[in-house]
Amino acid sequence: MSFSAIAHCDTTGLIGLSNRLAYRSSEDLKEFKAQTLGSQTILVMGKNTYQECGNLPERIILALSSKGNLLNGKATNETVETLSRSNHMIICGGPIVYEQFLPLCDSVIIHFTKQPQKKPGDNPSYFPLNLLNELFRQTTVKDFKTFTQIHYLKHGQ
Ligand SMILES: NC(=O)c1ccc[n+]([C@@H]2O[C@H](COP(=O)([O-])OP(=O)(O)OC[C@H]3O[C@@H](n4cnc5c(N)ncnc54)[C@H](OP(=O)(O)O)[C@@H]3O)[C@@H](O)[C@H]2O)c1
Repeated sequence: MSFSAIAHCDTTGLIGLSNRLAYRSSEDLKEFKAQTLGSQTILVMGKNTYQECGNLPERIILALSSKGNLLNGKATNETVETLSRSNHMIICGGPIVYEQFLPLCDSVIIHFTKQPQKKPGDNPSYFPLNLLNELFRQTTVKDFKTFTQIHYLKHGQ
């Protein structure tokens, strides 16, 4: 069983505004794809995030809902628990999903945007940076044109 997480935010942790991504760039989407490909990999996200991003080529998505989970858009009895026995799970948000699963993750990748910081405005969503800093330590930093990619490992690993 292995879990990791990935998010794109600013230094306040802002990831979403009005049910859309707060920050987006083609470079970020390309790197997100590179980091999430893999035949034994399943992306886990909340229902709202799935409604925004839909199915993604060459990836399997488990969308969580109390009304029934969806696997690539189709109703399923599979859960994170059953699927994680033989797959690597990448936690893709939103906020509550990050909070629930960060304690299970071994590693996290954060893309800290270089775009101008947006005002919280309507219905902001935040990545739990406090929990990240409590549970993880920064390892590597890679510079991209539109974001800084920071890798984190669980304390003690
Ligand atoms: N920048 C980024 O990296 C990033 C990543 C992800 C999301 N976002 C942003 O975050 C915002 C969406 O966040 P959100 O909080 O509205 O929605 P969300 O986390 O995508 O979905 C929340 C819903 O997921 C379901 N859920 C979560 N955990 C569950 C569990 N353990 N079991 C069953 N169902 C569960 C619930 O659905 P039910 O009510 O049906 O039970 C809950 O209402 C958007 O703005 C999006 O763009 C940004």
